[in-house]
Amino acid sequence: MHILHVVGARPNFMKAAPVYAALAACSGVTQTLVHSGQHYDFNMSDVFFQQLGLPAPDINLQIGPGSHARQTALIMSGFEPVILDKKPDLVVVYGDVNSTVATALVCAKLLVPVAHVEAGLRSFDRTMPEEINRVLTDQISSLLLTPSADGNENLAHEGIAAEKVHLVGNVMIDTLVRMLPQTATRIPAELPSRYALVTLHRPSNVDDTDWLGSILNELSNISAELPVWFPVHPRTRERLRHAQINGHNGTLRLMDPLPYLDFLALQTRATVVITDSGGIQEETTYLGIPCLTVRENTERPITTTMGTNTLVGRSIPRVRDEVKRILRGETKNGTVPPLWDGKASERIAAILTGKQAAVAQSSS
Ligand code: UD1
Repeated sequence: MHILHVVGARPNFMKAAPVYAALAACSGVTQTLVHSGQHYDFNMSDVFFQQLGLPAPDINLQIGPGSHARQTALIMSGFEPVILDKKPDLVVVYGDVNSTVATALVCAKLLVPVAHVEAGLRSFDRTMPEEINRVLTDQISSLLLTPSADGNENLAHEGIAAEKVHLVGNVMIDTLVRMLPQTATRIPAELPSRYALVTLHRPSNVDDTDWLGSILNELSNISAELPVWFPVHPRTRERLRHAQINGHNGTLRLMDPLPYLDFLALQTRATVVITDSGGIQEETTYLGIPCLTVRENTERPITTTMGTNTLVGRSIPRVRDEVKRILRGETKNGTVPPLWDGKASERIAAILTGKQAAVAQSSS
């Protein structure tokens, strides 16, 4: 069986790594890894391959930056010849980035089955490019592998046949569980005992200059009481430069994007994480670290109902109040959602190779 994986942007790498490893342990499976090149900087891509133990991509389409239409079109036209040449039995796509939908669409037109890892998540906000990518990818996938039961419900509402859908758990947590022991050596000597860790890169937060300026101003205020460490995504860096916003002061620390292990190490000890990322909402829930999500909605509602995540919307007073609450020790108690157990990739490998029945029998 020949399985071809597609990765393109930073959050894909930690999802693909455990699935690739689980399939490598299965006999009779050949794998090809294709990188679209959507993310291309060393610190947005290569360093993740190194730390996560992903092999170098067999093929890199090197499509680089561009508008959504241009990026999606370039990935599609670069990927079609790869499918025609490699003729995989199955293509695995991850998450909700432009590379995910572009390559799933190529496969659907060439009648090559697609398995979507992290299927079924919905923010119900179609102003988010990722929501469009999720809905379309799920409609054209043959196998839908969901991280939590809300994903199965969403897919059922969209008319997707139940036999295509498998609740497997969260593959990102597989990587976290595997890598956590290695974070102990990644704690910077100058790390304060209490601090806020910040990431912001969504268009809704960084493309509106006034809003971005207000957030930076509030982070600066917070940093008077609680040091703030902020690894800045290239998109955000560019917007800050363009708007000539320089939020940097002694205790608000703007840094380059961090490698996986170094960022995870900072998450494990943070007093609070302030973010608009999807994956970080999940990681903080697993770690039991308070998370404030600067968005009006989330496609990962289980992190708010079961986990430590709180949606603060686009509201500076909410951010301020929630940080004060956390500093008073009033933190939200969370639990880890079912099947976020480090074994999602094994379940996926069993399904993809048709050995699911054998696994179920041996564990019963
Ligand atoms: C993409 C995903 C988003 C994901 C995020 C994680 C889509 C629609 N969005 O957003 O869901 O949360 O990745 O990072 O697919 N850039 C660099 N170097 C890089 C990568 C990007 O400088 O290695 C620059 C690009 O040139 C571009 C900007 O960052 O100007 C945005 O990159 P892009 O891939 O378009 O989307 P992201 O905002 O990273």
